[in-house]
Amino acid sequence: MSQLLSIDQGTTSSRATLYGSSGEALATFSQPLTQHYPKPGWVEHDPEEIWRGQLDCIREALAGAAQGGVAGIGITNQRETTVIWERATGKPLHRAIVWQDRRTAEFTESLKREGVEPMVRQRTGLLLDPYFSASKLSWLLDTVPGLRGRCERGEVCFGTVDSWLIFRLTGGKSHVTDLSNASRTMLFNIQTLEWDEELLRLFKVPRAMLPEVLGSAAHFGSTSADLLGAEIPITGVAGDQQAALFGQACFTPGMAKATFGTGAFVVMNCGARPAGGEGVLSTIAWRLPGEPVQYALEGSIFIAGAAVQWLEEGLGMIAGPAEVEALARSVADTGGVYFVPALSGLGTPYWDPYARGVIAGLTRGSGKAHLARAALEAIAFQTLDAIRAMEGASGIPLSELRVDGGATRNDLLLEIQADLLGVPVLRPRCTESTSLGAAFLAGIGAGVLDTEQIGRRWALDRRLDPALAAERREEMYRGWKKCVQLSLGWAK
Ligand code: G3P
Repeated sequence: MSQLLSIDQGTTSSRATLYGSSGEALATFSQPLTQHYPKPGWVEHDPEEIWRGQLDCIREALAGAAQGGVAGIGITNQRETTVIWERATGKPLHRAIVWQDRRTAEFTESLKREGVEPMVRQRTGLLLDPYFSASKLSWLLDTVPGLRGRCERGEVCFGTVDSWLIFRLTGGKSHVTDLSNASRTMLFNIQTLEWDEELLRLFKVPRAMLPEVLGSAAHFGSTSADLLGAEIPITGVAGDQQAALFGQACFTPGMAKATFGTGAFVVMNCGARPAGGEGVLSTIAWRLPGEPVQYALEGSIFIAGAAVQWLEEGLGMIAGPAEVEALARSVADTGGVYFVPALSGLGTPYWDPYARGVIAGLTRGSGKAHLARAALEAIAFQTLDAIRAMEGASGIPLSELRVDGGATRNDLLLEIQADLLGVPVLRPRCTESTSLGAAFLAGIGAGVLDTEQIGRRWALDRRLDPALAAERREEMYRGWKKCVQLSLGWAK
């Protein structure tokens, strides 16, 4: 019986899950990850902490595995986060700059003024925003003393978190990434499927520091026996949102999922040709062996679960995320209160790194229950914004939305989401779609699974049908849009 090990390195935690051959989770281990905020708008992680936390989880998960039974390892990760390390020693040369970090807002703004955005968009499917790796890497190259020369001499590796973990897991043998992660760097051409010379020139990035790019279910290297006692092949890699799309078995164009984690990411399969449109990203979903590349449209929402976390940590209003549902349910509506959680700027479809959070519509009758409900509505409104933009771009109206991620345990959030979208929201039995997707890719890479088997495994837990009148929905949405206008450009 072959087992699969899935490694999920997210923004706030490192996890490893051991799966049985038909996709049942046998054991999960996780560790929290420290967030560093050295300046307002800056977010960093310690690459050594990522590595150590992940290694501990992997070791624990493998301790329960059948002897010689793990057919392959799948890796999925927070995307765009930028790591640099010394090739000879594997030593990090700076803290990782996290996807949420806004330090390069002025730089990306200046590139927009130069008029290069259409060229960047055509090649990468992305918009000029500090979110993506290129401007973060450019900042490192300009800031860390002596770095540029060392990179030109091939002494330094750049990678997203998948590359970093693979490098360490293989004892420094593999410096690789997969197509989906490469497509989030803003240095990779999603049409030619190569690092793009013109973009490397634009961001002044030496080619010698870039990883080799492989398909999603390829051989990425094997774990070093010194580290884990066995050479286990790494056979599946995808960025976390693409992995969730795969784990949700959204294999045909028009199928879409939303993952509610720190942020929320709505991704729609759009088949073998990239699609694009106002305010939405075009990105690589995956490539399976012997098949063409599959593309996706994406709506990226930077703050979703993190808005609830802020109610807890920033305001001390709740003792944990589990409390938010009961509090929000204690009122029938927000009483006109809106909360735009632009705590790291706004992504789809506004793309404004200078947007900041706004709470509006307060009266003497407003209380914490109204704010809790407004926070849940904010997650759902942002998803609605993203989906309307994606429908406009693809011309495909959404018929249902598959949801996953930690926050989908909150039934009220899903009820609000179905009401605001006006289409059914489907929660599968396994809501760990990201980790599951990486395990599935590893299973395909190891030759023990195929997409038909994966499609058959998807099982419904709960379907939430919309119950709100369209008129009321549009009225609420107008209030949201008004509040968003207040947040745009605030920190400029
Ligand atoms: O693009 C950022 C995304 O990959 C992070 O996902 O789940 O770590 O919030 P998550």
